[in-house]
Amino acid sequence: MKPTIAPFPAARFRRARSSSSVRALVREHTLTVDDLIWPVFVRDGEGVEEPVGSMPGVMRRSVDRVAQAAVEAQALGIPAICLFPYTNAALKTEDCAEAWSPDNLSNRAIRAIKAAAPDIAVMTDVALDPYNINGHDGYVVGGEIINDETVEALVKMTLAQAEAGADIIGPSDMMDGRIGAMRQALEASGHRNVMILSYAAKYASAFYGPFRDAVGASGALTGDKKTYQMDPGNSNEALRLIERDLTEGADMVMIKPGMPYLDICRRVKDTFGAPTYAYQVSGEYAMIQAAAQNGWIDGEKVMLESLLAFKRAGCDGILTYFAPQVARILNA
Ligand code: PBG
Repeated sequence: MKPTIAPFPAARFRRARSSSSVRALVREHTLTVDDLIWPVFVRDGEGVEEPVGSMPGVMRRSVDRVAQAAVEAQALGIPAICLFPYTNAALKTEDCAEAWSPDNLSNRAIRAIKAAAPDIAVMTDVALDPYNINGHDGYVVGGEIINDETVEALVKMTLAQAEAGADIIGPSDMMDGRIGAMRQALEASGHRNVMILSYAAKYASAFYGPFRDAVGASGALTGDKKTYQMDPGNSNEALRLIERDLTEGADMVMIKPGMPYLDICRRVKDTFGAPTYAYQVSGEYAMIQAAAQNGWIDGEKVMLESLLAFKRAGCDGILTYFAPQVARILNA
C-alpha cells in the first residue's frame, strides 16, 4: 500500500526503533547489576529459610543462611546487601537495648557476611522498630515519639554496627539531627570510612505493610508514623531534608518508597547530584508478585521495566527484593 496524500514526515522516530541493535544504540538508560542493593531479612536459628507470606519469593534467613546468600549475591556481582532483623518478641523492651547489643541478629549477620563474602558491601538499618515493644522507630513517651533521646539510642546502634564491620549505615528512622550525631560519633570512634546512606526522604507510606509483617512489627505498631515520616503530599520538603542530611554528613541519600515517588528522585538528582537511591519497598514488590502469580502481568518484564524507570528518574541504584533474580537475568 502506497501513501498517496501524506507527505513524508521529516523525522521518522521509528527508524531508531526498527531493530534491537539500533534500539540498543540509542538507549539512554540501562539497568546493570551494579545498580542493585539487596534487602535481606535475618532471623534466629540455624539452617532456616522461612518464606514471608506477604512477599512471595522472599525469605527470613538464619545468620548462616544470610552469609550463604551473601556469597551467592557476591558471585552474581551485586555490590551491596542490606540487613533487616526479625527480632524475637522476648527481646523487645522499652529501652530497646537489643538494638545496640554487639550480638544482636544484624551484628552477628554483619560479621558472618564479612567472613564469608568480604567483597560485598554490608548496609544496615538504623531505627528502633525491630526492638521496640510498640513498633515505632523511636522512643514513645506519653504517646509522643521523642526525638533527641531517640537519636542518642540510634547513635549507640550505629556504633555497634560499625564495630561489627558495617560498610554503610542506613538510618531509616526520620528523627531530626541523627545524621550529624552519627557522623560525629563515627569520626570520634575511628570509623572515618563508614558511609551513611540516609533515608532522607522517607514518606509515611502504606506501601510498607508487607515489610512490617516480615520483621514482625505490624502487630506491635500502635498508631501511625506520620509525626516523623513525610507527608505524601510534599515535594519541596524532600529537597530540604536531603540538603540537611548531606550537610550533616550523609554520603548518599534515599527516596522511599520508589515507584510512586519517581518525581522526587528526579528533583533530588537534578538539585544535588549526590549519589541517589530509591527503595522499591515491600508493597511495590508484593503488588508485582501478586499480579504476576495471578497471570495478570508478566512479572519478569514488569520487574525489569520498573527498575529501569528508577535509572531514568536519575537514581544511581535501587534497593530491591528482586536483586538476585534481576542479577541472574542481567548476567545471562
Ligand atoms: C523501619 C523500616 C521500614 C522499612 C525499612 N525500614 C518500615 C517502616 O518505616 O515502617 C520499609 C521497607 C519496605 O517496606 O520494604 N524503620
